[in-house]
Amino acid sequence: MSNQAATMRQGGRAAMDYMITLTQATKPLGAVWNKELAEAGLSDQTLPDNLDARHGVIKAALADSRAFAIGSLIGEFSSVEHGRVAQAAFDENADVLLPRFAELEARGPATLHANPDLKLPKYWDGVWFHRTTGGWDGHPEMGFVHSEYVHKTYVAKNFGGDIFGQRKAVLTRLGDFVPARICEFGTSSGHFTVALQETFPRAQITGVEISLPMLKEALRVANANGWAWDLHQAVAEDSGLAAESFDLVASYIILHEMPAEATRRLFKEAFRLLAPGGRVLMSDVTPYRAMDKIGQWRADYLAQRGGEPWWREAATLDLTQVARDAGFVDIEEGGLDGALYPWVINAKKPD
Ligand SMILES: C[S@@+](CC[C@H](N)C(=O)[O-])C[C@H]1O[C@@H](n2cnc3c(N)ncnc32)[C@H](O)[C@@H]1O
Repeated sequence: MSNQAATMRQGGRAAMDYMITLTQATKPLGAVWNKELAEAGLSDQTLPDNLDARHGVIKAALADSRAFAIGSLIGEFSSVEHGRVAQAAFDENADVLLPRFAELEARGPATLHANPDLKLPKYWDGVWFHRTTGGWDGHPEMGFVHSEYVHKTYVAKNFGGDIFGQRKAVLTRLGDFVPARICEFGTSSGHFTVALQETFPRAQITGVEISLPMLKEALRVANANGWAWDLHQAVAEDSGLAAESFDLVASYIILHEMPAEATRRLFKEAFRLLAPGGRVLMSDVTPYRAMDKIGQWRADYLAQRGGEPWWREAATLDLTQVARDAGFVDIEEGGLDGALYPWVINAKKPD
């Protein structure tokens, strides 16, 4: 399901290539912004602690910057447009793709438990995450659109690192712990689920995800590979799954898409789901406390422009405290291999 040549027609491929090239052209501008801010005398010593005030000071300092004007303009265009272009690329090729989807969905061995009565959380419902029209449910086949066109095509080329290697790398934090029963929160189209499956091939994997279009793609990925994932359309903080029925509860980049209050409930739910001695492992965005003031501003600016309404709240939350309050022990939190990203927290439910 990841053969781009087979999944995109010429118009869609050209439009996606255009979006990628345009975004890549802005990459060198970040260094120019930094240079200009340094020349304006802005640093950890001179910038305000308050982040909103800092946005104002930096905006004023870059008011005449051509590099900032161009970067902001193209960034704004790409933010709004990449989702539309990806959806149009799908629609152009729907007649080829939809019959393949039907065959894959019926094939098994994975199972999908849809919940048409699911009460959607206010922080998620109707929010256009990533500024994609309609958000996670913005297209009937958003799972495929996001997975194949946005993530594997656009993000993989524009993001600095190996986005799939990172999903596997975070699991090294578990050391020699081998879970037999894994629950994943925020399964989406299954990118981290694949990393879990390949790292722990004997494990039974249960996925929890709000969006049905995303889960349908996860179902197809599992069926295409013969993986018996058990997929549930549910809210992670209130999964409805049986208490003490998992050895590992894991997630990858879901926490920055929810308010702090929901993250606290999510850790409590993970604690409830785990058997004694079980482990939790969550990976998400780098906390602002690990960055200097300009780094914080840049992350915050890009998050606002990129349609991430909960990013700042997540990046300023003390996850170690959240895990401790939920009852976890042996808590470790930090960047992997000394880097700032991926950022991982893992902990244990007492025996
Ligand atoms: C950035 S994606 C995560 C991607 C995926 N884990 C991966 O590795 O690519 C966030 C996903 O979490 C889902 N999500 C957000 N809040 C959720 C919640 N409270 N419960 C379950 N799923 C949630 C979203 O619908 C979305 O599909």
